Amino acid sequence: MKKILVIGGGAMGSAFTIPCLENKNVVTITEPYSKRFIKDLSSKKKFHSALKIKLPSKLKFRKFSSDLLEEKFDLLVIALSLPGIDFIAKKLRHKKIKTPVLVLTKGLKYISKDKKILTISENLIRNSGIKNVSVLKGPCLAKELARKNQTSVVIANKSINFAKKIGKRISTKYYLAEFSKDVIGVEVCSAIKNIYSMIIGAGQSLNASSNLFQKSILEMIFLTKFFKGKEETTLGLAGAGDLYVSAAGGRNSKMGSYLGKGYTFKIAKKKFMPNDTVEGEQLVREIAPFILKKIDKKKIPLMVNLFRAILNNKKLKFS
Ligand SMILES: NC(=O)c1ccc[n+]([C@@H]2O[C@H](COP(=O)([O-])OP(=O)(O)OC[C@H]3O[C@@H](n4cnc5c(N)ncnc54)[C@H](O)[C@@H]3O)[C@@H](O)[C@H]2O)c1
Repeated sequence: MKKILVIGGGAMGSAFTIPCLENKNVVTITEPYSKRFIKDLSSKKKFHSALKIKLPSKLKFRKFSSDLLEEKFDLLVIALSLPGIDFIAKKLRHKKIKTPVLVLTKGLKYISKDKKILTISENLIRNSGIKNVSVLKGPCLAKELARKNQTSVVIANKSINFAKKIGKRISTKYYLAEFSKDVIGVEVCSAIKNIYSMIIGAGQSLNASSNLFQKSILEMIFLTKFFKGKEETTLGLAGAGDLYVSAAGGRNSKMGSYLGKGYTFKIAKKKFMPNDTVEGEQLVREIAPFILKKIDKKKIPLMVNLFRAILNNKKLKFS
């Protein structure tokens, strides 16, 4: 029995507690940011308004504080969305915490002063001083995991044995873990799939989307290798696997479908998705300046066309 602290009470953080509890861990969840999730998690019923289920009564809720991070846990799980990463890195800084960290967040960070793109684990290691950071990614819709639908994910750490140790603590019959040493590849794939699922969503028929799917995989392989990840990772759960689920349903591909119909990003957002976070768009704004400067545009024509459409608010064209 291990003590796990999940930081982030959104859909994914909350769903993740379910297999962890079932695997007989003592699980605490905390929410630093959203009043809505604090209300859900601190209520007696523990009804989660995003997952639309009642969370297990064994799940403990604690108010977020810096002191909580210093308590004795066996694993800290970060399930905040991308804007929460700098926040939590600052909170962890100077605390000399030795607890291993597992990151569920998907995305990449552009560090303007170094003119470099970092993965989230690289960013956390650099800004928080935490040394042992693993990542868990893959095709996982939080709502499906919360309903115990079979889900497979990949856990990556430079030490495969450590990744397996985490897998043993959190997996169940329905939450299955694979393992990888390619931390960078897993993180790059799980981030850029948000961009490529928007591109696939722009296809206006299954035939057209399938063509975009195949070309997206080729661009993902190129980009993963550019960032020093492995080609085989792109074809695994964090790459092709996650691309499939995101393209089949999800906010990025929904936005892509409006772009494919000829709407500009701003109009589509305002008209159809005013309250939705489109993670692919956030990532475009984060990484586009670097990619457009440093990478041969001919190698990634789909991504470059999507950048142009979003950054210049122009119609999306694949030419
Ligand atoms: N690894 C996986 O298997 C997996 C699966 C699905 C989603 N995800 C990723 O998990 C992350 C969270 O997704 P979700 O579906 O729970 O989203 P959500 O919108 O339901 O929750 C977002 C979480 O981030 C926090 N947050 C948002 N802005 C913040 C800020 N500025 N400062 C601090 N905290 C902030 C919210 O309070 C909340 O806890 C995303 O990066 C998503 O891509 C991972």
